[in-house]
Amino acid sequence: MFITFEGIEGCGKTTQIGLMGDFLGTKGLPYIITREPGGTGIGDEVRRILLSPENQEMRPGTELFLYMASRAQHVADVIEPALMDKKIVLCDRFSDATIAYQGYARGFDIVLVKELNQLATSGLTPDITILLDCPVEIGLKRAMARASAASGREGEDRLEMEGISFHQKVREGYLKVAAEEDMRVVVIDGTKDRDIVHEEICKTVLSRI
Ligand code: TMP
Repeated sequence: MFITFEGIEGCGKTTQIGLMGDFLGTKGLPYIITREPGGTGIGDEVRRILLSPENQEMRPGTELFLYMASRAQHVADVIEPALMDKKIVLCDRFSDATIAYQGYARGFDIVLVKELNQLATSGLTPDITILLDCPVEIGLKRAMARASAASGREGEDRLEMEGISFHQKVREGYLKVAAEEDMRVVVIDGTKDRDIVHEEICKTVLSRI
């Protein structure tokens, strides 16, 4: 089973993936946790290029293709083999992120982004996508707090440094994807208490395993 976690910066998805992994472990269910961009050696190198605040001159097209490059390597080397081994794959962002960020927020044609996703994933679609929805102001505040705990303004990555209206478009984009694919994408209120969000995610996942 392939489960992806999506949402704007600071929505809490990384925390929730960790909790979900622990939960599956206590049930004795085999799982892996992975992420995009990244998840492979090549993907991690691509991630560094994509997120480095030094790469301000990066063109939107370069950004789009780098996310796809990381995904192609990740699907073939990590996700497909784990699914073949009957493992539950918990993935921190996947194709929907490109639709929301590069499609709805950067302005690339949504049909084109979907076609590129198709190419990068060989048609692999998540069984369930958990969309942790949260107002941009709350998400960015959390992301900034995390960044300043790391190393001040420099702790923020290139995408986190985008303005509030960019993140607003990302949020709205994700909600459009959820409305179009309501069988696959489950929207959960990411502003609720961490443990309540975790319970809601467990219920959703268990009802579909
Ligand atoms: P993360 O901070 O959740 O690990 O994600 C890294 C950043 O990359 C985040 O700002 C979202 C962005 N991103 C895209 O713009 N497009 C994509 O396809 C993916 C996977 C992530």
